[in-house]
Amino acid sequence: MAASSSHAPHAARPAVGAAAPIGVFDSGVGGLTVLRALRERLPDEPLLYLGDTARLPYGSKSAGTVVRYAEQAARVLVDRGVKLLVIACNTASAVALEHLSEVFHPLPVIGVVEPGAEAACLASRSGEIVVLATEGTVRGGAYERAIRARRGDARVVQTACPLFVALAEEGWVSGPIVEAIAHRYLDGVLREHPDADCLVLGCTHFPVLRAAISAAVGPRLTLVDSAETTARVVARELAARGLLHTPSSAPPSAPSATPGMPIPAAGQGSARFLATDAPARFARVGAVFMGEALAPELRPEAVELVDL
Ligand code: DGL
Repeated sequence: MAASSSHAPHAARPAVGAAAPIGVFDSGVGGLTVLRALRERLPDEPLLYLGDTARLPYGSKSAGTVVRYAEQAARVLVDRGVKLLVIACNTASAVALEHLSEVFHPLPVIGVVEPGAEAACLASRSGEIVVLATEGTVRGGAYERAIRARRGDARVVQTACPLFVALAEEGWVSGPIVEAIAHRYLDGVLREHPDADCLVLGCTHFPVLRAAISAAVGPRLTLVDSAETTARVVARELAARGLLHTPSSAPPSAPSATPGMPIPAAGQGSARFLATDAPARFARVGAVFMGEALAPELRPEAVELVDL
């Protein structure tokens, strides 16, 4: 989307090499679901994550505000020398992907909506696809366009589920309250669309509620999210640009590409975390659903507070 910006296009910077981190951002802990998929697919890669916790949620904000927030969050990561940027937020991907690609050119910028649409088209047989997302993502219709671009006959049903974001940020991922909210959002949609066979978790916060959502919809629908598909796209992009990190990308004696980022050994890509507010809370909630892949690195003292 075209957006006005107070910033000029990003000034030319020294080229970053394969040892530089992948930058990932979201409004909060939701993008950690994408970070986890990146860690699983690309275990050697150094990762730098920013959660814009001071300004969450993005989903209820206007498109212009989300573009502005996304640019500011991205700039922090770009200034720290990332080699690729992942917008691990559907709301921001839907409205800011084009803008960030222009502003930070030639840095590769990858959003999560297109990979999510791809996963949905692969999973659906009937072509009737339910998309759960934030109000902003639903309003802009980005999923509908991305799915229809791949499958012209698809019928896309979009439902905004903003309370799922609040539940995830609270670390409430199961139990009667979560189940009741899932039923409240989903029962009517499923009744009205008996042919729907695929449900897209079109917000990166939603996969942490996957079990409760899955229980509410039953076995008829296949649940998909964009994390795994996004990680695949990132791997492909890095390989195409010769930027995949291997232990030989950064010999132990070489200086780290990014100040403060340790040079990882094989299969031990480092992860660093930034938050714009309440870093201890971010670490506590994030660790709830990061699994073994990243939880040990997400310690409260390891999350740096940054101002945008
Ligand atoms: N996780 C974000 C998304 O994928 C948005 C959550 C929010 O801030 O509303 O859309």
